[in-house]
Amino acid sequence: MGTKETIAEMNAQFGIAGAARVVEGKGGLPKVEVTGAAAAGEMYLLGGEVTSWVPRGREETLFVSAASKWEDGKAIRGGVPVCFPWFGNKADDPKAPAHGFVRAKAWRLESVERKGDTVAVSMSTASDDGTKRLWPAEFRLVHRATFGAELTMELEMRNTGSAPLRFEEALHTYFRVEDITKVRVRGLDGIRYIDKTDGFKEKTQLGDVVIGKETDNVYLGTAHAVEIEDPAMRRRIRVSKENSLATVVWNPWFEKAKAMSDMGDDEWRQFVCVETCNVAKHAVTLEPGAQHRMKAVVSVEES
Ligand code: BG6
Repeated sequence: MGTKETIAEMNAQFGIAGAARVVEGKGGLPKVEVTGAAAAGEMYLLGGEVTSWVPRGREETLFVSAASKWEDGKAIRGGVPVCFPWFGNKADDPKAPAHGFVRAKAWRLESVERKGDTVAVSMSTASDDGTKRLWPAEFRLVHRATFGAELTMELEMRNTGSAPLRFEEALHTYFRVEDITKVRVRGLDGIRYIDKTDGFKEKTQLGDVVIGKETDNVYLGTAHAVEIEDPAMRRRIRVSKENSLATVVWNPWFEKAKAMSDMGDDEWRQFVCVETCNVAKHAVTLEPGAQHRMKAVVSVEES
């Protein structure tokens, strides 16, 4: 993927004058660049991944690492990687790619539509011989991102095989913040969570989530919205959702960030991941022919 010719062909087929074009992104990878009336943004075919959303008159909402690799076969570090069909390490095969295999794969551009002042971009990926070697299931996954005053991301999964299947999924959103140590994540007080930094022990959140060390928490039974309060940027980001029962809050802090080859040593200060997901006991079971749609809606206001 990613040759100039195919990018030009895709642009001829899907581009909308004044609203969206298919262009060469970082590393020569194809991306849809959205310049709608209500927001600008971008979505790469690599991973079917949103990497930018800038509502009109506001600043960038998502974080992408300056050290990201931008290579087919490697996950982008930042933006909104789609994790599927497992989250973290695969339970029965720790050598399988972390967070599943779709985030490092080229997806197919399905449609670009202008609706009012929003632009919706749909990309898809499906099972093939390669995915069946890692996970013996037949599926079709569509990610539809709508760029407007809100950013709406819908992940639609269909079981196209003849056996029931069970999967995990996450919209692993990296939110850009000015200074992680001043951020508060609100809406999780009193919620049970799995602390992945402490042997997966189950604990109860007390008050807002304040990040002062490596944080890797899976909040259970959370169908409701959460808010990221970022006083240094004077903004509040709200994430509401549908058909998602878990929320992950992650920041690697400095030691882990240093060990990551695709993250700058100081970049851990500049983001918090608040992930809309169905993981752990909230993994989804789908009967043959059935479909599941998880949705995240992000909005920003001044605070
Ligand atoms: C988080 C996980 O969602 O993603 C963490 O809960 C993980 O355990 C992090 O370290 C980053 O994962 P990766 O594979 O992108 O380095």
